[in-house]
Amino acid sequence: MFDHPDFDGHEEVLYCTDESVGLHAIIAIHDTTLGPAAGGCRMHPYDSAADALTDVLRLSKGMTYKNSIAGLELGGGKCVIIADPASPQKPELLRAFSSFVQRLNGRFWTAIDVGVGPADADTLAEQCDFIFANASRYEPGFNPSQFTALGGFSSLLGAVAHVFGSDELAGRRVAIQGLGATGFNLARHLHDTGAELVVADVRDDAVADIVKQFGATAVAADEIHCQEVDVFAPCAMGAVLNDETIPEIRAQIVCGMANNQLAEDRHGEMLRSRGITYVPDYLANCGGVTGAAPVIYTESTADEIDSRIRGLRERTMDVLARADAENRPSSQVADAIAQERIAAKV
Ligand code: NAI
Repeated sequence: MFDHPDFDGHEEVLYCTDESVGLHAIIAIHDTTLGPAAGGCRMHPYDSAADALTDVLRLSKGMTYKNSIAGLELGGGKCVIIADPASPQKPELLRAFSSFVQRLNGRFWTAIDVGVGPADADTLAEQCDFIFANASRYEPGFNPSQFTALGGFSSLLGAVAHVFGSDELAGRRVAIQGLGATGFNLARHLHDTGAELVVADVRDDAVADIVKQFGATAVAADEIHCQEVDVFAPCAMGAVLNDETIPEIRAQIVCGMANNQLAEDRHGEMLRSRGITYVPDYLANCGGVTGAAPVIYTESTADEIDSRIRGLRERTMDVLARADAENRPSSQVADAIAQERIAAKV
């Protein structure tokens, strides 16, 4: 463990097994300097426990940075359950797993992630007091991904204001890659403010829906990154900013909610040297945790949550202004800001 390439001084890594239901899971608590660790629960049929460990070590560190840049009084952690989310055993696995979270007695709070939705989080919450973003906290039909999309939209406004001197979106063109929970809701916000949309998804029905509802222009999935637009918004998978795609990007801004958009850290510098303004992914997508997680340490009204998420516009402008002033990639500046907040608390 201590020699693992992704081990980063994690405070605690717990292996959780309950053979009565076939549970194999790992909880990683990366850093609790700013507050209790908070991060989603992923269910995925990893090929090996080693793959699951790599994922949870990286994801939990990512949550430390995301919660820090979001200005939350929360540290970073994450958990993974090694199972197929389509398994009929899912409720039993979630219930068994929740007892391990309960035993941590509030040092770690968990929520939704890939393979675990808001209704599943309600199953986790049946016997555990340390669950957030579960369905029953919200009006029926509300999905906390809408917080994420509002945050991504707010970050995009900040980036547009930074680059063009005004956040007026009417007439601006935005290319959205991926039209799922985050991409669809981003499209809705953009359409409401008069932006023109260019969209792609590997699901034809998702594309047809957006074309019909918002008058978007559809393009091929492998051409969405090189459209003649003002903003490219990756909202699907990771590693989309790489040696092949970056030279082809024609947008002045990249701002989307997909996780881990840079294939490697050096691609932050590659974007900068091409004059492309990049909003670091964990800043653009921290609206979800900003909206859902403060329940851990404070009570907020819906208006307070809304204005906190919309505040990501200013936070984004601050990060981009500092990146320009220091002549550094925004991805490095975001990391530095996240680390400074933690260092100031130590
Ligand atoms: P989703 O699964 O609802 O939507 C993803 C969409 O991308 C799907 O419609 C899928 O068909 C499409 N897609 C997959 N491969 C594609 C490709 N090669 N080209 C074009 N489209 C493709 O996922 P969601 O929730 O919208 O998440 C998107 C990204 O945002 C992920 O990286 C996720 O980790 C990240 N994220 C999501 C949060 C949330 O609250 N939902 C929070 C933070 C990050």
